[in-house]
Amino acid sequence: MNTTFSYPTMVRFGNGVIQELGPHLKERGYAKPLLVTDPALAKQDFLNKIYDDLKILNINAHIFHDIHKNPVKSDVIIGEAAYKKYSCDCIIGLGGGASMDVARAIALKINHPRDLFDYVELTGGDKFITEAIPYFVTVPTTSGTGSEVGRSTVISDDDTHQKKILFHPTLLAKAVFADPELTMELPPHVTAATGMDALTHNIEAYLAKGFHPLSDGIALEGIRLIHESLHTAVNKPTPEARANMMAAALMGAVAFQKGLGLIHSMAHALSTHKDLHHGLANALMMPAGLNFNEKSVAQKIRRIEKHIGINKPLAIYTRELTQSIGLPTNLSSLGISEADIDRLAKLAHEDGCHQCNEVTVTENDFKQLFKEALY
Ligand SMILES: [Fe+2]
Repeated sequence: MNTTFSYPTMVRFGNGVIQELGPHLKERGYAKPLLVTDPALAKQDFLNKIYDDLKILNINAHIFHDIHKNPVKSDVIIGEAAYKKYSCDCIIGLGGGASMDVARAIALKINHPRDLFDYVELTGGDKFITEAIPYFVTVPTTSGTGSEVGRSTVISDDDTHQKKILFHPTLLAKAVFADPELTMELPPHVTAATGMDALTHNIEAYLAKGFHPLSDGIALEGIRLIHESLHTAVNKPTPEARANMMAAALMGAVAFQKGLGLIHSMAHALSTHKDLHHGLANALMMPAGLNFNEKSVAQKIRRIEKHIGINKPLAIYTRELTQSIGLPTNLSSLGISEADIDRLAKLAHEDGCHQCNEVTVTENDFKQLFKEALY
C-alpha cells in the first residue's frame, strides 16, 4: 500500500491567462527566454502577439522552432546552443507534446554537459541530474498529451529513431499557463486525435493497478469532462468545450503518474511500426483493450459507465465516440493487415506501459488484440 502522491505545480488556467506570462517572468527578473515551439505554430498570429506582448515588457524572447514532429537529439543540441548563443535566462515550452519535450530536454542540458542520452532513466542516468534546471514554464496549445504538467521527455536517436525517456522530478515546469483560447483554431482532426489520447490517459490511469485514490478521482472526472465536451470541441467548438478538454488533458497527465496500461503499449507499437498519430492509435486500440480488461477490472469499468451516465459497455461507447468525431475505427482501413501483427505484438510486449495493467498481458494476448482491432 505504500505509495507516493506527487502533484504538480502552479497552473494558471482560463481564457486570457497567456497575458500573465510576461508579468510572471518580469516579476522574477527574467528578460531573455528561449521560446521553444514548432514550425507550424511559429507562423501563427497568436505567437507573434505573445512575442510582442513580452517585448513591451522588455522581455526579448528568442524563438526556437527548428524541431521535428518526433523530436530527435539534434533538436535539443541545436536548442541548447541557441540558449547559450543568445544568453537566455529561462525557457518557455509552447505547443503540443513535441515542443514541450524539446523544451524540457533543453532545460535539462543547459547545466548538464554529458551526452543527452547519458541521462536516460532506464539505464540509471537520472542519478547524473544533479545541477540546477533553468526557470521553465509551459504553455499548452493542444488538449491531449498533458505534457505541460509532465516530468519526463521522450527524445529519439537521430539515426536509429529509438525513443529514449528522460525523467526527473526537477523537470516539472515551475508554472503552467493553460489558456483554452489558444486551442480555439485547432483543426477538427487534431482536436479529435489529441482528445482521444487524453481520454485514454484518464481511462488507463483509473484502471491501472495500485492504490492511488487521488489519481482515481481526477481520472474519473477527466473522463466525464471529455464525455461532455469532446464531440462538441471537434464538431462545433465552444469556449466551454475547449476549456473542458484542456482541463481534462491536464488531469489525464496528472492521473497517469499512477501508470497507464496495455492500450498505450499497443499505441506505441502502432506509432513505431506504422507512424500512426499517437492519439488515433489509442482510439483504435481502446475497444479491444477494454474488452481484455473486463476479466480483471469489470467493476471499475462499470463505475466509469455509471459516472458518465451511459447504458452501454464502455468499449462500444469509445468506438462510437471515435466514429462520431471523424476518426477511423479499424486498423485495416489504415493499411494494416495480418502480416503486421507479429511485429506489432512484439513491440507492444516490449513496451513498459502494460506493466501497470491489473492482469498480465502476453505477446500472444497482444496478437489477439491486434487481430480484434483489424476490422
Ligand atoms: Fe498518451
